[in-house]
Amino acid sequence: MQDPAAFEKEALANLRQQLPAPHRAVVAASGGIDSTVAAVLAQRALGDRARAVFVDTGLLRAGEVERTEALLSSVGVELHVLKGAERFFSVLRGVSDPEEKRRRIGATFVRLFEEEAGRVGASHLVQGTIAPDWIESGGSLRDTIKTHHNVGGLPKDLKLSVVEPLRDLYKDEVRQVARHLGIPQWERQPFPGPGLAVRVVGEVTPERVELARVACAEVEAEIDQAVHEGRLARPWQYFATLLPIRTVGVEGDVRTYGLAASVRVVESTDAMTATAMALPPEIARRIAERITRASHGGITRVLLDLTDKPPATIEWE
Ligand code: XMP
Repeated sequence: MQDPAAFEKEALANLRQQLPAPHRAVVAASGGIDSTVAAVLAQRALGDRARAVFVDTGLLRAGEVERTEALLSSVGVELHVLKGAERFFSVLRGVSDPEEKRRRIGATFVRLFEEEAGRVGASHLVQGTIAPDWIESGGSLRDTIKTHHNVGGLPKDLKLSVVEPLRDLYKDEVRQVARHLGIPQWERQPFPGPGLAVRVVGEVTPERVELARVACAEVEAEIDQAVHEGRLARPWQYFATLLPIRTVGVEGDVRTYGLAASVRVVESTDAMTATAMALPPEIARRIAERITRASHGGITRVLLDLTDKPPATIEWE
């Protein structure tokens, strides 16, 4: 990449060229750094012809809608939140296959964006796809590893023209551009587009997603605290995955029968490979305690996943 200022100039010129007035765009915002950079560029290039849209899928982490609204508003982008939870849970009913989940979630995302575009008269969709997204989605590798929904899941009959101002950038370059644009650099771990749906192994239901949400929040809280107190270097990703396994537990002298969850903490630089972290035992034990307590009997057993990528992937699905 040239320097960030030159990149911005070129990106704004390209956006204006691809979207001459009176064309309008909806901008897919997720709260992640890539889409936030894309939203700021679209806003600077197109002003109110760009409408930043955030989909509340019902598959998000605790507090994510509020955090995203606050972030975008801090960089001068007004965020429009679409409430989609019922739609997503309904298309996911009965589906266990990970790629089918991604496909349906991707298709539902796109339909919601198309509907929103129809309402505001937009012809284009701006999204923050970066180079590794399309490389891992089969753009240049022979075999598709996972169809990351923001690329592989786009339907052929998409009614919007897709604009991807960051598609040639790698993550460190996006960070440089973000810094240049005045976007606050926050220490955030990556979160998959299909959200907690790929952290619930097997069928996705609102109850299971809620358990995954609670478990992920406990992992984050414990690890963030350890990082804050200097007991741990910040890992690349740290989360829990709900497993479709019932397991016997005991509470007082009463038998319980909840689900199992796996905790995964990995180090990586680009997500293409990753090393599983064996946590300090006291942190691992605290996480197990926190998850079982916070899930109120929903999760009765917590496992620590020590598999590197490869052979495993970072997410379970
Ligand atoms: P995997 O599981 O493929 O993950 O080793 C690599 C990185 O990508 C994230 N991930 C996704 N991101 N859509 C996304 O936008 C997806 O479908 C998806 N699946 C995995 C994962 O969290 C990790 O950072």
